Amino acid sequence: MGTEINQVVFDAENIRKDFPILNEKAYGKPLAYFDNAATSQKPQVVIDCLKDYYSHYNANIHRGVHFLSQKASQAFDDVRIKVQQFINASSEREIIFTRGTTESINLVSATFGRKFIGTGDEIIITAMEHHSNIVPWQMLCEEKQAILKVIPMTDSGELCMDQLEGLITEKTKLISVVHTSNSLGTINPVKEIIRIAHQNSIPVLIDAAQAIAHEHLDVQELDCDFLAFSGHKMFGPTGVGCLYGKLELLEKMPPYQGGGEMIHSVSFEKTTYNEVPFKFEAGTPNIADVIALGAAIDYLNLLDRTAASAHESALMQYASEKLTAIEHVKLIGTASHKTSVVSFIIDGVNALDAGMYLDTMGIAVRTGHHCTEPVMNRLGIPGTIRASFMFYNTFEEIDRLAEGVKKAIGLLRR
Ligand SMILES: Cc1ncc(COP(=O)(O)O)c(C=O)c1O
Repeated sequence: MGTEINQVVFDAENIRKDFPILNEKAYGKPLAYFDNAATSQKPQVVIDCLKDYYSHYNANIHRGVHFLSQKASQAFDDVRIKVQQFINASSEREIIFTRGTTESINLVSATFGRKFIGTGDEIIITAMEHHSNIVPWQMLCEEKQAILKVIPMTDSGELCMDQLEGLITEKTKLISVVHTSNSLGTINPVKEIIRIAHQNSIPVLIDAAQAIAHEHLDVQELDCDFLAFSGHKMFGPTGVGCLYGKLELLEKMPPYQGGGEMIHSVSFEKTTYNEVPFKFEAGTPNIADVIALGAAIDYLNLLDRTAASAHESALMQYASEKLTAIEHVKLIGTASHKTSVVSFIIDGVNALDAGMYLDTMGIAVRTGHHCTEPVMNRLGIPGTIRASFMFYNTFEEIDRLAEGVKKAIGLLRR
C-alpha cells in the first residue's frame, strides 16, 4: 500500500528493495524494524561504498603522494563539501568530522566551554534532552562552577516556551537544545529559541540527531551556531558524525584533541595549530565511514524527501490511532508537532516484557528510558515502548505491531 500525498504516491515497497536487511527474518518471522530512532538501516549503496573503499583504495589520507592516498583523500574531502551542501553551511570549513552526535557535543563543551564558560556562568538545556546533551554540560559545570538551567516541559511533552526568557540572564553563555526528542517525538520550536537567544547574544547548539534523517535542515536559515548529528541515524555507518559550527566561533575556539593532522608545526618549545576544521580533527580520521556517509547523503539527495517525510507522518498518525484504540494503551508524547516516533505504555504490562514478546514476533521495538531518564522522571514512569518509523516502514507492519500489542496484553497483563 502506498501513501497518497497530494497525488504523489510514496512507494515504500519499492524503496525497501534498497535495504537488504529488511528481507531478514527474526525467529523465522519477517522482520518489522521499528528501532529507527536508535539507528537507521543502510541502503545497498552505502554497504557497497564501504566494500569498494577497502577493496580498491584503502590508504591514509592527506599525507601520501601515492595514487591510493590521493584517491582516498579526494573521496574524503568531497564528503565535507557534500555535508556542507546537505545542511547548507556557508563554507566547508564549518564542517568537522566526529564520531557522532555525542562527540560533537563533547567537542563543543571541551573547547567552547573551556574558553568561554567560567565560574557562575549559565548554560540552558531542555527537560527532554538525550543524556548526551546533559552529561557533557554537567561535567563542564562541575569543573567550572557554572550553572545548568532547564527549560521545563508540559505533560504532553512540549517545551514551556513562556519560561525561556525568564531563564536567560546576562550570565547565560550557551543554549543547547534537542531539535527532535528521541523518546517523545516532539519537534521543538528551535528557530524561535535561536531568535530569542540571539536577541540576548547567546549562541545556540542544536542536537539534530533525530531530525537529520527526517527533515531538511538548513543551518543558515535556522541561524544556529552549532549543529550536531550522527551518520548512523541517516543511513550512514556507525562511528561517524558531524559538528557544524559558525566559522567565526570555530576560529575563536581552542583545539579539541592534540596529535597529528591538527598541527601546523611542532617543536618541543611550541606547537602551532592547523586551520579550522583540521584543528579539531586530530589523528587519522574515520576515512571509510566518512566516505560511506557521503554515499548516504547521495542516497538521500536522490530520494523524494518531501514524499518520504509525508509517508512517515502518515505512519505515525496511523500507529497512534491503532494503538490508542487498544484498551490499556496510553501514548506518551502527544505534542502537536511530532516526528515519526510513537512511545507508549501499557497499563499492567511491563514495557520490557512487552518488547521481548513483540521481538518473538519479529517486531523490533525499543523499551526503557531511551537515554532520557529525566523525561521519564518528569512523567513519573520507568520507561516506554517506542516504535520509531522510517520511510521504508509500511502500514502492514504497523498492523502487525497493533496485533502484537493486543496479544501481549492478553498474555502478560497482571
Ligand atoms: C536526540 C539524541 N541526541 C543524541 C544522541 C546520541 O547519538 P550518538 O549515540 O549517535 O552519538 C541520540 C541517540 O539516540 C539522540 O537520539
